[in-house]
Order: sequence, then C-alpha cells, then structure tokens
Amino acid sequence: MTPRWTPGAPAEAGKQVARCVILPDDAGAGEALARALRAAGTEVVTVTGGNAFTETPGGFTIDPASPADHAALAERLATSAGVTVVDLRLLDRPEDGDGRDTLPPVARLLAAWGEAGADSARVLLVTRAGQAVSAGERPDPGQAAAATLPMVANQEYLNLDCATVDVAPGADAAEVAGALAAEVRHPSGDVFVAYREGSRLIRAYTPAEPASGPDGTPIRPGGTYLVTGGLGDVGLLLAGHLARKGAGRLILLSRGGVPDDEGHPRRVAVDALRELGVEVSTPRVDVTDAAAVRALLAGESRLDGVVHAAAVTTPDTFSPLRDLEGDGVARHFDAKVTGALTLERALAETDHAPDFCVLFSSTSALLGGITFGSYAAANAALTAIAHRQHEGPAPWTAASWDTWSVTLDRIEGGFGAAMAAHSMTADEALAAFDRLRAAGHPHVVVAAGGLDDRLPRAVPTLPGRPQRGPRPEAPTGFRGPSCPSPTRRRPRSPSATSPGSGRRCSASSRSAPVTTSSTWAATPWWRCRCWRW
Ligand SMILES: NC(=O)c1ccc[n+]([C@@H]2O[C@H](COP(=O)([O-])OP(=O)(O)OC[C@H]3O[C@@H](n4cnc5c(N)ncnc54)[C@H](OP(=O)(O)O)[C@@H]3O)[C@@H](O)[C@H]2O)c1
Repeated sequence: MTPRWTPGAPAEAGKQVARCVILPDDAGAGEALARALRAAGTEVVTVTGGNAFTETPGGFTIDPASPADHAALAERLATSAGVTVVDLRLLDRPEDGDGRDTLPPVARLLAAWGEAGADSARVLLVTRAGQAVSAGERPDPGQAAAATLPMVANQEYLNLDCATVDVAPGADAAEVAGALAAEVRHPSGDVFVAYREGSRLIRAYTPAEPASGPDGTPIRPGGTYLVTGGLGDVGLLLAGHLARKGAGRLILLSRGGVPDDEGHPRRVAVDALRELGVEVSTPRVDVTDAAAVRALLAGESRLDGVVHAAAVTTPDTFSPLRDLEGDGVARHFDAKVTGALTLERALAETDHAPDFCVLFSSTSALLGGITFGSYAAANAALTAIAHRQHEGPAPWTAASWDTWSVTLDRIEGGFGAAMAAHSMTADEALAAFDRLRAAGHPHVVVAAGGLDDRLPRAVPTLPGRPQRGPRPEAPTGFRGPSCPSPTRRRPRSPSATSPGSGRRCSASSRSAPVTTSSTWAATPWWRCRCWRW
C-alpha cells in the first residue's frame, strides 16, 4: 500500500473553544492565530520559552527542557470545559541532522497534558514539510518524526485527542493561522491533517499500483549486495533470498559480526548461506560510523543493491512518552536514522550507484503503539529520507513492514498471538520485497492483513467525545498515567478513575485490562490485534 492524501471535510463550521493555549513560532503564525481566536471570543494563553515557570501579563514562560514546568502549566490551565493546545514551535526549526532533537520537547508537552492536564484536552502539533503530500515533496526527517507523537499520545493517554497538522514548506504566517483557526474549532478525529494551497487533506493508504518501470527489485546474477543488520533475523532471511535469486556476494554488516564459537547461531547461519554458493563477508562495522562505512564502500568496486535493516529493538528500548528523553530516542535513531544518513553520504561519494536502496521501516510509523514513540518516529524519519532519494541515481524506498513471522518466537508471553494476527510468513514478506520497486513510490507499506481496521482515527460518536481507535497492545510493562505510583501524580479529577467513567488506562501490568467505558477499549489491550514492530 502507498500513502495518498485525500480531501478531508473542510474545517469550517465549528464550535466555540473556551480556552486555547498557544506555544508560538517566531514568524508570527501563533500571534495571528491568537488574534483570530480572541476575536471569536476564545481565551488565549500564550506560552513562551524561558528559564523557569513564570506567569507573565500575556501568559506564561516555561523552561522547555523541564517536564515539571510543562506539568505545572497543564495543571494551571486545565479546565473542565476542555482546553486546546496548539504547538507551533517546530515551524521555526531548520532542517538539520537526523531530527531526533524534535522529539523530547513535543513528548514533554504531550505527556504533561496527558498526565497532569485535564480529563479532556486536545493538542495540535504543527509541522512544516513533515509529510510528502504530493509527488516530489521532500519531507524533513525531524518534522516527520515528531509528527508521529500525537498519534502515540492518543494511545498512551485516553484523555487526550491529539493530531498533527502539517503545513507546506512555504506557507506564510497568515495562511498557517487561517488553517489552524479552522482546525481548532473543528474537532474532526483526523490524526494526520495537511494543508496545501488552502485545501485540507487527510492521510489514507491505497493498494500500490504497479508502476510502468521494472517489474521487481532487480537482483543481478553474481551481483554484490550490502545488508546492514544483515546478521539479524530479517537480515539473514533476506540474505538467503538474495543468494537464491543469484547474488554472488553478500556483505552482512553488523557491530558484533560472527563470533568464533563454532555453534553460534550467526556462524551456523552464515555457513548455511555459503553452502548456497554465495560469497559472504561479515564486517564488524557500526553503520553510524561514517569513516568506517566510507572505508567499507571504498573497498568495493561496485554495489548492486543496499538494504538498511540495522536496528536495536530490544524491549528495553521502548518507553512511554513521559520518559522519552535523549537516551531513549538515541536507541532507535542511532542505527536506523543516523545509519541511513551515513549510508546516504557514503553512497553519494561512490562512482557506481546501486540499483536500489531499501530502508527497513515499520508499520509503527503510521499506526503508532504504546511506548513506541521513538521507534515510530525513527521509522517515519526513514520514510522522509527515502522520499528525498527516490528520484536519485539509486531509487530509495522505505518499506514499512508488519511483523515478520520469523521474529515471533522472540516475543515473550502473551504477545505472540496478537503479533501473529498481523504477521507475514517469510514467503509473503520476501515476495513483497521483490515487488517493492514495482510500486514506484518512495514509501510502501507492507501489511499482509491490510490497514483498514488499524489506522489511528477518532470517529465522533457522542457530542464532544470523539471515539478513538484502535488502541494497540503495550509491548512492555506499560503503566497508564492513573496507576498508583509514588512518583506519579494522581489524576486531577476523582471522576477520572471512577468505574466506567474513564478514558484513562488503569493497566498496571500485562495482566490487567484497560478499564474504560469507551467501546473501542472493550477488548483488553493484550488481546487487541494491533501490536506491531
Ligand atoms: N522483525 C520484524 O518483524 C520487523 C517488522 C517491521 C520492521 N522491522 C525492521 O526490520 C529491521 C530488521 O529487524 P530484525 O527483526 O531483523 O532486527 P534484529 O534481529 O534485531 O537485527 C538487527 C541487526 O542490526 C544490527 N545492528 C544494530 N545496530 C547496529 C549498528 N549501529 N550498526 C550495524 N548494525 C547494527 C544488530 O547486530 P549487532 O548488534 O551485532 O550490531 C542486529 O543483528 C529493523 O529495522 C526493524 O525495525 C522488523
């Protein structure tokens, strides 16, 4: 499937909003939005960055790096009538690096409003060029990454209704303010919204149509293929596939390489590959090490294809938004995103462009997942990188995969059944790999069971109470914000935890269900079929 942006219902007729909290940009869109909302009778509170939490005549200053300041702000400004928060800070950010810096400030804001804010709050994150809405747009990896966090916030905090509103690279302050004023008054349930040339668009996915170009991912007889993360579960499967399709030489890159131990699974797997007649090298190279990657490529006379599958996805790398600080982000961004950028630069310096470069992303980039904030963001950043290289000499494609069944057995406990529901057999996944290039699109979603019942959405069923869903399982011991904890504030309102009233998660371990009256959450989360890598 490939993403398609389709016209959404125009955000025109809307309701009066009692209070709007604006974290403005420097270019005036936030100010223009504040003027428009005040003129319509909304109380507007402006929050700017400073050294500490301070009340000012026009609003507040907070230290953007302080979770406590965000929490204090949310506690002060929450009202039972509901609050809309509009964060325009990313509009000022120039495209830079791998984009990981965008995540902690946004995560702090979302977690604060989820935990300390209110029984109901709406947060709109504004990104610029975070989405490739029409052909040829080149999204910024940092904006694309941050854009996933509102989706994850909806899953981690049941009192929040969050969305990302993406504006065009050249949109001016008046244009941005106009779009946001309409969006603020129009709780739609759409989680990904974009404005282009005055049109409101929402993201959907349609089956990939074969392009008119080559039929499939070309494997040259005797060709040389680099697979980063090539000694991982998926990398080894792919290596066997490439060998069977005629590859002559495989470079399976990893940090750990093949240990000396004769019986080590990596050694056994590599020996089995060699028995297929392919030459295999297993360099110990960290894909984030630019000099080492450059040296590796310099030693190859040609590369016919590159697959970037390096990643660190151990359970301890997944953390909820409230803990999404530097280290947690780095674990997913290092290998995946910095690694992709390292490859991008190193390949640009070589004389011979490979036939393809496939970046291994995940459906979490579009479906989110509890505790998947940094993983979803890193996978979305990969899709942005593929967009900017798709028209280059080596067409890059980001493939957002559902679970490969080969990895199911490493998933502990009760998660296997849920993951299996959307997993692909090795044959299905490898057949999809062969067809990636035929889609002719920089971003291809490979979901054997489709996406229809899984995309984040909020379908209004009761006035003012959008119904969101579906909520994925928590892969780790996720504890909802209302769980008793010595370090955690209790919910503000007693009604938030009373039986049947709630939209908050009361799960304190894997064995406890979400208790909520919302119909979408009637299924305990460990039985929900939406957990994913
Ligand atoms: N498995 C699935 O069902 C699934 C679904 C969707 C997407 N994906 C994506 O597919 C890719 C492969 O997944 P997998 O399940 O095969 O993962 P995996 O078994 O954990 O393999 C990943 C490999 O990457 C290597 N690696 C990590 N950091 C590295 C670095 N900095 N430089 C070089 N190599 C590095 C690791 O080896 P060392 O530790 O020795 O470096 C590891 O063997 C990942 O990008 C994942 O997000 C997987």
